[in-house]
Amino acid sequence: MNSVRIDRQAIRRNYQALAAQLGGQAQVMAVIKADGYGHGMVEMATILQGVGASHFAVATVEQGVLLRQAGIRGRLVVLLGGLAAEISAMQSYALEPALFDADQFAQFSAAAARLPAPLPVHLKVDCGMGRLGFNPAEVGAWSEKLRAARGLELVALMSHFPSADGDLELTRRQNEVFGRCLATVRSHHAGVKAHIANSAATLLGREFHWDLVRPGLALYGCYPSPDPQWRHTPLVPAMSVATTLVQVEAAPAHKGVSYGHLDRTSRPSRLGVLPLGYAEGFSRRLSGGVGQVLIRGQRAPVMGRVCMNVTVVDVTDIPGACRGDEVIIMGQQGNDQIRAEEIAAWMGTINYEVLCLLGKSMPRHYFN
Ligand SMILES: Cc1ncc(COP(=O)(O)O)c(C=O)c1O
Repeated sequence: MNSVRIDRQAIRRNYQALAAQLGGQAQVMAVIKADGYGHGMVEMATILQGVGASHFAVATVEQGVLLRQAGIRGRLVVLLGGLAAEISAMQSYALEPALFDADQFAQFSAAAARLPAPLPVHLKVDCGMGRLGFNPAEVGAWSEKLRAARGLELVALMSHFPSADGDLELTRRQNEVFGRCLATVRSHHAGVKAHIANSAATLLGREFHWDLVRPGLALYGCYPSPDPQWRHTPLVPAMSVATTLVQVEAAPAHKGVSYGHLDRTSRPSRLGVLPLGYAEGFSRRLSGGVGQVLIRGQRAPVMGRVCMNVTVVDVTDIPGACRGDEVIIMGQQGNDQIRAEEIAAWMGTINYEVLCLLGKSMPRHYFN
């Protein structure tokens, strides 16, 4: 009844469009944490490996282990670093943690000293995100400490942009700070790689690409901002979400609909029932006409409160709508399309959250 459809070809095309931006200078490290932003982590890695991706970023050691068990061969970076207790698993499964904190550094260098071979690590510097990472002023000292830490092998310097989707000047300044940190680190560790660009910075241009770029959102076919200036690179949304009308019934004027009677019909109406609600990621914030769905190529607004597994929509203006009709929650139907960005605006959130919510709660079907 409910299905999340994932277009493999869209993922391949988005990867290729991003790789083309790099002009052979840098490589893509595909960010597939959060179950591939709701698209399926293992499936995304498998598809991307098939078109040449050789670097992946996940959040946790557990995710990295799952990828290895599924036969993913590329380099796997653990963005949240993992725990010192997981260090032998990291080595066994060839996972490369990000190092971003003094306590973590102390624990990791002690634990790694007992490993049979050095563990590759990515040193993270905070160029302005205000989240994880060493202070740029101290990066030289940490890089020297890494030289002394025999169990750890520095393979890359990394950082993360907070506003690449909206503030080019700030992003340029942060990129310069990153460049200075890199020069310092390379004076101790020649040949260290560098990566800082998320989707937005990847789309912005080569000055942000360094050796590797780390796009997530763009791989799945979404732009970092609704501003049309980002559309120079063709991206195709890979996820669509469909369900089926399980009931269509006539309702008199003034009939209260769903919990709390948030809405009442304003006229003799026809109401359709969808077998999905907030448990399937169709947020309660879409209640009361905020959200819409597509039926027979036309928009049907949500009536009343979205429930746990049930949502009512107004199909009065959609002639012939009946039980069994396909309903598009996100995606194209006829000449109309509901994108993740539109749902995000209704919900007061961002397209990232829409993909994660819808993608994780319903069975996924892959095609192409
Ligand atoms: C450290 C890091 N790098 C890269 C990304 C990818 O960002 P985006 O999905 O905006 O491309 C993320 C996503 O949250 C991240 O946390």
